[in-house]
Amino acid sequence: MCGIVGYIGQRDAYPIILKGLKRLEYRGYDSAGIALYDGEDIQLCKTKGKVADLEKKAEKEISRKGNLGIGHTRWATHGVPNDVNSHPHYSNSGDLVLIHNGIIENYDSLKQELLNRGYTFKSETDTEVLVNLIEDVQKKENVKLGKAVQIALNQVVGAYAIALFDKKKPDEIVVAKLGSPLAIGVGDDEFFVASDASPFIEFTNNAIYLEDEEMAVIRLGREVRVRKIKDDQLVAPYIQELQLNLEQIEKGGYDHFMLKEIHEQPSVIKDTYRGRLHADDGILRLGGLENHIEKFLNADRIIIVACGTSWHAGLVAEYFIEDFTRIPVEVEYASEFRYRNPIISEKDVIIAISQSGETADTLAAIKLAKQKGAFVYGVCNVVGSSISRETDSGTYTHAGPEIGVASTKAFTTQITVLTMIALRLAKAKGTISHSDFVRYLHELELIPTHVEKALQTEDEIKEIASVFMNVRNFLYLGRGYNFPVALEGALKLKEISYIHAEGYPAAEMKHGPIALIDESMPVVVIAIKSDHYEKVVSNIQEIKARKGKILAVVSEGDKTVREMADYVMVVPHTPEALSPLVTTIPLQLLSYHIAVMLGRNVDQPRNLAKSVTVE
Ligand code: F6R
Repeated sequence: MCGIVGYIGQRDAYPIILKGLKRLEYRGYDSAGIALYDGEDIQLCKTKGKVADLEKKAEKEISRKGNLGIGHTRWATHGVPNDVNSHPHYSNSGDLVLIHNGIIENYDSLKQELLNRGYTFKSETDTEVLVNLIEDVQKKENVKLGKAVQIALNQVVGAYAIALFDKKKPDEIVVAKLGSPLAIGVGDDEFFVASDASPFIEFTNNAIYLEDEEMAVIRLGREVRVRKIKDDQLVAPYIQELQLNLEQIEKGGYDHFMLKEIHEQPSVIKDTYRGRLHADDGILRLGGLENHIEKFLNADRIIIVACGTSWHAGLVAEYFIEDFTRIPVEVEYASEFRYRNPIISEKDVIIAISQSGETADTLAAIKLAKQKGAFVYGVCNVVGSSISRETDSGTYTHAGPEIGVASTKAFTTQITVLTMIALRLAKAKGTISHSDFVRYLHELELIPTHVEKALQTEDEIKEIASVFMNVRNFLYLGRGYNFPVALEGALKLKEISYIHAEGYPAAEMKHGPIALIDESMPVVVIAIKSDHYEKVVSNIQEIKARKGKILAVVSEGDKTVREMADYVMVVPHTPEALSPLVTTIPLQLLSYHIAVMLGRNVDQPRNLAKSVTVE
């Protein structure tokens, strides 16, 4: 978590860094800070609160001049969010100033040593320990800043993306990465540093993504020098040409990024299968998969690892893959998997799902599986992210940047990719007939239109939101492919509205949660036409008998549930296996509108961060 930005060049650094921080605010937003070199000294301003608070403070407190600077937006790990703990942090001499995304795990012992050597600390952060450690090395060893950073980082255990400069040498920024992302934008005699490319995309399309355990000295008038932190080996930097555009990362007329991203789903689902699927020709081809199909077909089982919403996409995939390919699938929370000494062998295939491609637990689960010889396939949204690089192969979702902290379009594009993987494997294994295969390809091509139609019910969903906005608890029920959608619906509601919500398989209700049902309890039931329809109808009757309020997601043309439910949210009919792609839409809209009506910060809900790079 935390977002870092830096600039060195000929332009004013302040507006670039400030705008960059606003774009990175999704990564953490409990405090923010900036440090600029004004030609003589460092101008530093930091505050608890948002980047907007920083902006107000900076206008009053600092000159905002200078062509070199670094900025930070924080998601607290060590030390409560307050002005002092905010980044950047000075070294004791006041010469060095540093920003950091990550955690220094051995900061306590390092701090003790530095205290013994006379260093003092203002904050409770691990970052202030690191900047002083670097200064200490610089002085003791009489080395340049880059070398001091390298020596210091070799003493550090933990994760970091850092950027720092020395006011005595204001023509360079030093950066380093382990476990947290770091991109360097390469312009014309100017350089940018950021946690992702969004802060510099209007200035340059050329970026270097540092690998773990790499550092770079970025000096004006010279090429970026990248080296390995451990063995000092120089690495030829790979300059990647980015495909992002500015429009993709701005709100495009919507009130919130989340709403924009909900409405982008028809087009990003299409982008995700475009070029890979041609229903008319019966073709489905996934570049990353073609050379590895045998690995999947010979696997004892597929283990899916992910967190949060991505884990829910994994649960949908479990139904689809087992149903269509008959390959056993297990879905694991990455955070549990990595620590429970799991049984993994070379005959297992792991699918790791992650929007950001930076989630620490998922990354650790991948590394563990690779150590044990398993083949790891990634489903990621962010090109060049740590997970996409760590996996043996993979398929990108083409959702574009997801800025709203609550995941929406990433979820549906993940399901799109996982569905394609399942169909491709089923075809190769012969567990699907050619006609069914082609039928499903056609049905997938219809999904964007169905999603578009589901989005058109937004006004009705807004009405429902206004009725239930003040309720304190919600229950979400679904069966089969729509059980994970119930979990995802509940997660969406709790994370952005702070209303307590639970998702359950509908039939489990009578094993406990039914005790919660009374006239004040709204129950969202996914009751589309499917093999489970009659059973879900019985579950609805059980709720009605206890006076619960039914908000049902129903298929077009449904009569039975419509008559029983208090409110309905209508979605177009699809084969059940593809239905999560449409049933999830009204649930996203319901959460969004309840949260807006409650005045919540929809794009940046409290306590959350977009990219969870700490465990
Ligand atoms: C919920 C949400 C989180 C993420 C989870 C995994 O809306 O966004 O639950 O799904 O933190 O993140 P990624 O997919 O980036 O690994």
